[in-house]
Amino acid sequence: MELLSKTLARVKPSPTIAVTQKAAELKAAGRDVIGLGAGEPDFDTPTNIQEAGIAAIKAGKTKYTAVDGIPELKQAICEKFKRDNGLDYVPAQVSVGTGGKQVLYNALMATLNPGEEVVIPAPYWVSYPDMVLLAGGEPVIAPATLENDFKLTPEALEAAITPKTKWFIFNSPSNPTGAGYGWDELKALTDVLMRHPHVWVLTDDMYEHLAYDDFKFCTPAQVEPALYDRTLTMNGVSKAYAMTGWRIGYAAGPEKLIAAMRKIQSQSTSNPCSISQWAAVEALNGPQDFIPQNNKMFVRRRDLVVDMLNDIDGMICPKPEGAFYVYPSIKGLIGKTSAAGTKITDDEVFATALLEETGVAVVFGAAFGLSPNFRISYATSDDALKEACTRIQGFCAGLT
Ligand SMILES: Cc1ncc(COP(=O)(O)O)c(C=O)c1O
Repeated sequence: MELLSKTLARVKPSPTIAVTQKAAELKAAGRDVIGLGAGEPDFDTPTNIQEAGIAAIKAGKTKYTAVDGIPELKQAICEKFKRDNGLDYVPAQVSVGTGGKQVLYNALMATLNPGEEVVIPAPYWVSYPDMVLLAGGEPVIAPATLENDFKLTPEALEAAITPKTKWFIFNSPSNPTGAGYGWDELKALTDVLMRHPHVWVLTDDMYEHLAYDDFKFCTPAQVEPALYDRTLTMNGVSKAYAMTGWRIGYAAGPEKLIAAMRKIQSQSTSNPCSISQWAAVEALNGPQDFIPQNNKMFVRRRDLVVDMLNDIDGMICPKPEGAFYVYPSIKGLIGKTSAAGTKITDDEVFATALLEETGVAVVFGAAFGLSPNFRISYATSDDALKEACTRIQGFCAGLT
């Protein structure tokens, strides 16, 4: 009998983690590597949040908690949804998990039957299709294009929906493109969803607070209140509060769905870390003024990277509305040969040659479902970004 399950054979490991690992290996071997692969802020968790975690330990808040979150955190989440998104939820509609990742996974595990489809706009966050496959469902990829600033059109959404569609996964601002949907752009999508009452909406709002210039974040149940009863609004503290390692994500939606997600969590991990939950209470209830300050820094870094990449012949780098990623196209470089003699046949070859020849680690676009592109995470220092973009410029100048 084969040891590994047939379900496991349907999924692949996360390519973003693979790139980070490869860069770390080269670094350990003494190479001068600049890692632009990891999707996390480069600064520490704010002090008030750190102290809330320490206080929780000292106060003995180190025992099992309610499976899907302490009441104090659920209350803070309800207040956050009201304050930031104009959405009314009560604690029984809230689920807290070990990162946004677990919350998404619980939702898909709790709802998908074999053959049921999930519409995922591409470029997508790497984990969506594999999570759907793990849960026994079928990902249906709805392409968005560079010409449309990587945003899904209502026509492409309409074309992807079938009678078997259970979920539409929406992510704005997006990982990997940083594209953020304005109110009218999102309304055009929710209008499509209103014509398909069997489709549920799973909105991943993880990058809500990383919104730049005059872009205003909005979320489906806010833009179309009639979708409230079939929307799971997911969010978390990982990105905006620099808390990736604390592992707290959350979602709010219909009680029946939240109870089903709780059932899965109760038979797998039980509660998310008690200390992290108390830190997350402080993150949501405490001062928020560092967010616009950090965003100023992110805007500066985004502009630096976009400008330097757009100076390269054959590269097009749109300027995104949010998150900390850019997703340039290398269409104009395909078919060329690098200084070390590698023929650039696709974006995976490009990323590998770039890493080997210049020490700059990026993630190739095929991992996110749209090629030929690559993703840069600009959540690193200005100096590292300048140096990395200079090396990318040199690598591209050497292509013949
Ligand atoms: C779009 C998106 N959703 C969800 C997550 C998962 O967040 P967490 O670290 O809280 O599990 C990430 C993390 O990279 C992400 O980029």
